[in-house]
Amino acid sequence: MAMVLGISETHPAPPCSIVILGASGDLARRKLLPALYNLEHCGQGMLPHETAIIGFARTPMSTEEFRTSSREAVAKYSRLKVEEECWRKFEDKLDYQSGLDQPDGFKRLRQRLEEIEKARGTPPNRVFYFSIPPEAIRDSIERLHDAGLIREPRDKYFSRVVVEKPIGHDLASAIEISNTLRRHLDESQIFRIDHYLGKETVQNLMVLRFANTIFERLWGSRNVSHVQITVAESEGVGTRAGYYDHSGAMRDMVQNHMLQVLTMLAMEPPVSLEAAAIRESKLNVLRALRPISLEDAAQLTVRARYGAGTLDGKPVPGYSKEKGVAANSKTETYVAIKTYIDNWRWSGVPFYLRHGKRLPKRESVIAVQFHHAPKILFNRDAKLPPNVLMIRIQPDEGFSFDVMAKRPGLGLEISPVRMNLHYETEFGKDVSPDAYERLLLDVMAGDSTLFPSDTFVHKSWEFIQGILDAWKDDARVPMREYPAGSWGPDDADRLIRADGFEWLDP
Ligand code: BG6
Repeated sequence: MAMVLGISETHPAPPCSIVILGASGDLARRKLLPALYNLEHCGQGMLPHETAIIGFARTPMSTEEFRTSSREAVAKYSRLKVEEECWRKFEDKLDYQSGLDQPDGFKRLRQRLEEIEKARGTPPNRVFYFSIPPEAIRDSIERLHDAGLIREPRDKYFSRVVVEKPIGHDLASAIEISNTLRRHLDESQIFRIDHYLGKETVQNLMVLRFANTIFERLWGSRNVSHVQITVAESEGVGTRAGYYDHSGAMRDMVQNHMLQVLTMLAMEPPVSLEAAAIRESKLNVLRALRPISLEDAAQLTVRARYGAGTLDGKPVPGYSKEKGVAANSKTETYVAIKTYIDNWRWSGVPFYLRHGKRLPKRESVIAVQFHHAPKILFNRDAKLPPNVLMIRIQPDEGFSFDVMAKRPGLGLEISPVRMNLHYETEFGKDVSPDAYERLLLDVMAGDSTLFPSDTFVHKSWEFIQGILDAWKDDARVPMREYPAGSWGPDDADRLIRADGFEWLDP
């Protein structure tokens, strides 16, 4: 039996009802419904027959209409093909209820749930997935509670709540959301989703580090010169300006996904694979993350937004001309940060983070660069490049390690060669489940290993808040512009070159 972090791959989820609040929204259509369908798909069969999936939103719609629109969404975004037999089984589980914004909406939801559970023989285990804007979360939690839809944590049946990132808009609002959640729910009932933690390659970080002896021994300042984490996207803001223009790259990607990746990469070996142990190890990285002060922000951070440019040979507009972006918008679409982890292992090793939209390609990658070989023997006169471990999170999942080798021949020519693992070549095509499949299954199984705790969320906000505060003064860290289709502003190159390094491209 293959073991994964948290639950075992071969167990189906326990029977329950999954209520998607905001079921007509983008996330539900692009990610949640396709992920649930993939779990149902005949090859996987991870949803028990009694499972019920209830769309709950504002838009009035019949269950039939919801099923039809869900099929369209699944056909468009699912990893696995829509096959009639699997679809019929899946469709049978779908129901719809409007009234998310109505005063008695949650009470009616409760009645409907009870009817569905009775008809399907579903035990009253319930998962409430909050696929709604962060500002609506507090009110909905209160209403869920008032409608009697939250059970005691030790009840025979479970009530679980899933909340999406970003949790809050800043540290203060994140704490307010946590307080509301904790007023009505126990921590074991709260699942904060950060879909990067559900990605195969992010989970593989732990396996790479702790199932191999070589890497762990090299992992730290004695051998590593610096670390780069790049999350590049070629997409622009698309149709999401309504959300993104109030959020920006820092809140949308860095505060959550990138700090998750950083902590997985840098944490100490946890004492076990229990959720609490892993969470604690990750949290300790955040505790050691050096805060960026107002004075240092100009040297250690870069912010920018894309201007008009060319991508894949086509002209694309600048951010300020995108539909829905406010005329006086000050939102960044690019961030670069240099930081340190002030603990024994990483003392003195710079960590560079960069993320941007409208960069030349979609690519998330971690580069761990080792120290240069000493200037003796083969490296006495030459300047041999250092070893680099590249961990490719997406899209070409895998990792590579650059080592020096002698080129065959009578002379002595040394050049870097690459040892390269491609998931697709090694394990086959389309074998990686989508992050949401893994995470939804974990919620149903009650396994919180891959979900951030409230302390983690607050700590990550603390770090980000320092930078956001510094950015309030436009003159301190000026907003730069980069042409769409480029690798970002010159300031980001200067940031890393000041230390004698270059951004690495896999
Ligand atoms: C989401 C952000 O959380 O992650 C989006 O809101 C971003 O702006 C997306 O595009 C990236 O996810 P992935 O899985 O495509 O890297």
